[in-house]
Amino acid sequence: MYFTTSKMHVEIPGGKMVDSVIDEAHNPENLNPFKGNIDFEKLQGYIDEYGLDKIAFVNVEMNVNMAGGQPISMENLRKLREFCDGYKIKVIYDITRSSENAYFIREREKGYENTPIIDILNEMMSYSDGCIHSSKKDCLVNIGGFIATSDKEIYEATRSSVVIYEGLHTYGGMAGRDMEALARGLREGTQYEYLKYRINQVRYLGELLMQANVPVVKPIGGHAVFINALEFLPHLQREQWPGQTLSAAIYEHSAVRTMERGAVSIGRDSQTGENIFPPLELVRLTIPRRVYTNTHMEYVANSVIDLYERRDTIPGLKMIYEPKHLRFFQARFEQMTL
Ligand SMILES: Cc1ncc(COP(=O)(O)O)c(C=O)c1O
Repeated sequence: MYFTTSKMHVEIPGGKMVDSVIDEAHNPENLNPFKGNIDFEKLQGYIDEYGLDKIAFVNVEMNVNMAGGQPISMENLRKLREFCDGYKIKVIYDITRSSENAYFIREREKGYENTPIIDILNEMMSYSDGCIHSSKKDCLVNIGGFIATSDKEIYEATRSSVVIYEGLHTYGGMAGRDMEALARGLREGTQYEYLKYRINQVRYLGELLMQANVPVVKPIGGHAVFINALEFLPHLQREQWPGQTLSAAIYEHSAVRTMERGAVSIGRDSQTGENIFPPLELVRLTIPRRVYTNTHMEYVANSVIDLYERRDTIPGLKMIYEPKHLRFFQARFEQMTL
């Protein structure tokens, strides 16, 4: 499934990102433990439709964000490697949330119950040709990221283009102290006890909301609880941006800052310019690591539940400003009347 900024980076040089996640990922109620898995029939379909020479790489996101923070299984990663080897297609991971994915593999996949997270991660990475990493997430640092690859050709090409955007590869865009923090975070973020606390705190918030029948994506994901805005605000049309409306209403009600992950986020079709209305119209309650207590989670849950009880009084929004790229960051809206 697409991720907003990754999709943009594919589209800027003229590419197209196509969805190859299993159908279950688009259904908030489906309880598949690995909703981030790849559907091989879809992949084969793209090869047949576009031709092998048009496929630059297969992008695999760990703990698929837009599906609700849903993991991919080791079995699926292994199969993908075999599938892509058959066609000599590169497999590039987005490992931004890979430690949380590894935790779910340990929790849910047979044979990994007692495997250290770091060993699970090493096996996951062994099936890829390279990865991108936004380290602000699983690495517990304030800033930074990297690209890594075991492929000499990609390495050479990346090293020469990074100079244009960031500076020389050895001292590029990040300060030395940030790289040191990142190196430490790479290890620290894989500790089992820390991940257990982290994922269970997210789950705690999800369970509080589910007990009050607030519609959320199930199973609860790794980094966030996602509210199904279409179910929460059924009186709104898609053009009234239910996800954005709910996100703004929560902020107005309780100063809890959430994020729309639906039609505003996906943007317009790069070819036709039409709005896309994806099956998932969600609001993401993303929880920073090591910041909040469970009492904060109760405050958040109570605020959302309070709003849910008077949901039919919430009017929709009209988009009054739309930037060219990644509109969800900077668009502006006006409240409509009910
Ligand atoms: C899988 C994934 N990749 C990339 C990003 C974005 O990274 P950055 O904030 O460094 O642009 C996110 C952010 O949520 C993400 O979940």
